[in-house]
Amino acid sequence: MKDIVSLCKRRGFIFAASEIYGGINGFWDYGPLGVELKNNLRDRWWKDMVITPPIGPDGSPVEIVGVDSAIIQNPKAWVASGHVGGFSDPMQTCRKCKKLLRADHVWDMLKESEWVQSFADAFGASNVNDKLVFKSENAQKWAQTKGKKLAPGLALVRNPSVTLSWLAEDSQGAAQTELTVTQILEYMATEQKAVTGLQTPCPHCGGDLTEPKAFNLMFQTYVGAMQSEDSIAYLRPETAQGIFLNYKNVLDSSRVRVPFGIAQIGKAFRNEVNPRNFIFRSREFEQMELEWFCHKDEAKMWRDFWFAERQRFWKSVGLSSANLQMRDHDSDELSHYAKAGLGTADIEYRFPFTAPGFGELEGIAHRCDFDLTQHQEHSGAKLEYMDPNDNTKRFIPHVIEPAAGLSRGVLALICEAYTVDEKRPSGLYLNFHPSMAPKKAAILPLTAKDEHVPLAQKLYLDIREDFAVDLDIKQNIGKRYARQDEIGTPYCFTIDNDTVNDQTVTVRERNTMAQERIHMDKVKSFLHEKIRGRGV
Ligand code: GAP
Repeated sequence: MKDIVSLCKRRGFIFAASEIYGGINGFWDYGPLGVELKNNLRDRWWKDMVITPPIGPDGSPVEIVGVDSAIIQNPKAWVASGHVGGFSDPMQTCRKCKKLLRADHVWDMLKESEWVQSFADAFGASNVNDKLVFKSENAQKWAQTKGKKLAPGLALVRNPSVTLSWLAEDSQGAAQTELTVTQILEYMATEQKAVTGLQTPCPHCGGDLTEPKAFNLMFQTYVGAMQSEDSIAYLRPETAQGIFLNYKNVLDSSRVRVPFGIAQIGKAFRNEVNPRNFIFRSREFEQMELEWFCHKDEAKMWRDFWFAERQRFWKSVGLSSANLQMRDHDSDELSHYAKAGLGTADIEYRFPFTAPGFGELEGIAHRCDFDLTQHQEHSGAKLEYMDPNDNTKRFIPHVIEPAAGLSRGVLALICEAYTVDEKRPSGLYLNFHPSMAPKKAAILPLTAKDEHVPLAQKLYLDIREDFAVDLDIKQNIGKRYARQDEIGTPYCFTIDNDTVNDQTVTVRERNTMAQERIHMDKVKSFLHEKIRGRGV
C-alpha cells in the first residue's frame, strides 16, 4: 500500500489535504490525474444509472432520474432519518494516552500495531491468531526492553509481577501454557483482574480502555450569524436523505411512476474516529447512491436485480471477479434503517490492506419504507404513493438502495491497476481499463526538433476533440514512456522522421509494449475502435 500511496502523490493522483501545514487527518485532495480518474468513474455511474439505465426484468429500461440536493438540510430531516439519535459508533478512550478509538476497530488496529508485532516476534509468532507456548521469562524480558519503549501503558510493562500472576493462576501454575497471541494480550493488559476482568489493550500504547460510549459521527455547524442551539445544522453524512426529501417533488414534477429510481452523486461527511487506509475511510468522501422505489411485494425481485447489476458495473470498469465478493450483513451489523426487511449485502473488494480478506465498496440495503414513513411523520407532508390505475390504492413505497463509494471506487481502481513489471524502466504500470484511464493517449514527438513538434501539435489538436490526451514534448522518449506507464495511458503515439516523410506514427500499447505503425489520419479511428469499442 505504501508504494501505491507514494505513486499517487508522485504522479498527481491524490495528495494529503493541507499538506504544507502538516495535513489534516481524514481529508484528501485529488490532483490533476486523480480528478480525471474520479470524474471518469462518476460519469460512468451516472451514464449507467440515469442516461442509459439497465434493462429491467420485463425487458424495458428501468426509469431513473437524478437530483443534486443541498449538503445542509433542515436539521429536523436528520432527526427524522434517525441520524441525530442513532448515527453513532461505540467509542473507547485509552486511559493512559487518551486516544479515542472505535470499539469495533480495536482488534483490527491491534493486529497492525507495532508493539503487538514486536510482542508476537518475542514468542516467534507471525500472526495474532497463532497459538504459542507462553513463557513468562520471554514476556518479562520483552517488557523490560522493547515493551518499555513501544507499549509504556501496558499493564505487563508497568506492573509485570501482578500482571503475570493472573495467567499463572488461571493455568494453575503449569510451566507452559498454550494460548493464541490474542488471548495472551488480554492477560498482558490486565492489572486488576478481579475488578475489571480481562482487558483489551490500546493499540497505540498498550494502556487500558474505558467502557464503550456512543459518539455521533455527524459534523455539526451553525447557520447564520448567531451560534445557538437553534442555529445548529449538520453536514450530510449520506447523500440518500436529499433524495428522500425530494421524492415528492420528483413525483409531482416528472413522469416517473413506481417502480423508479432517484440517483445522486456528491460529498458526504462523517467525523470518523479512526480514518485510515488512505482514502478508504476518510472524513470527507463522495458517494454514488440510488434509491429505488418499489412496491413491497416486489422488493426481493428488485434487490436481486440490483445485486446483479451492481456487480456487473464494477467488473465493467475493470475490477476482476477474483477481487470482488458479495457478503450478507450479520443482524448485529445492520444500520437502523435496515433492521427490518431483507437486510443488507455488501459488494466487497480485496484491497491490499484487507488481503487476503475484503473491504466494503458498496452496500445494497432494503431500507423498507423506513425513511419515507419517518419524513411523513416528522414533516406532516403526505408521502404516500397513489396507484395511477386505481386511486383507492395508496402505499408508501419500499426502497432498495445500492449505495456506492466514489472515493472507495477510485481506490479500488488504482489498487487493481497497480502492476509491478521489472522489465520496463518505470518498474510498474497502471493497468486501467481504457475507459477509466485519466489519459487515453499521449502524443510524443521523438525530439523537440522543429519538424516533429508541429506534427505532434496538429495530431494532438485533432484527437483532443474526442479523447483526453496528453501532449508530452520534454525529456527523452524512454522517460516519457515510463511516465505514461505510471499514469496508465493505454496508447502512446510517437512522431519521428518517418512521420515527416510518410505521415505514419508509431503506436505503443501500454501492457504489451508492442509497437506498430499507422497513418496519422487513422489515429482517431484506431482509438475509437480500441477504446470506445471496449464499451466506453
Ligand atoms: N446511504 C447508505 C449509506 O450511506 P454506507 O454503507 O454507510 O451506506 C455507502 O455508505 C458507501 O459509502 C460505502 O459502501 C463506502 O463505499 C462509502 N463510505 C462510507 N463511509 C466512508 C468513509 N468514511 N470514507 C470513504 N467512503 C465511505
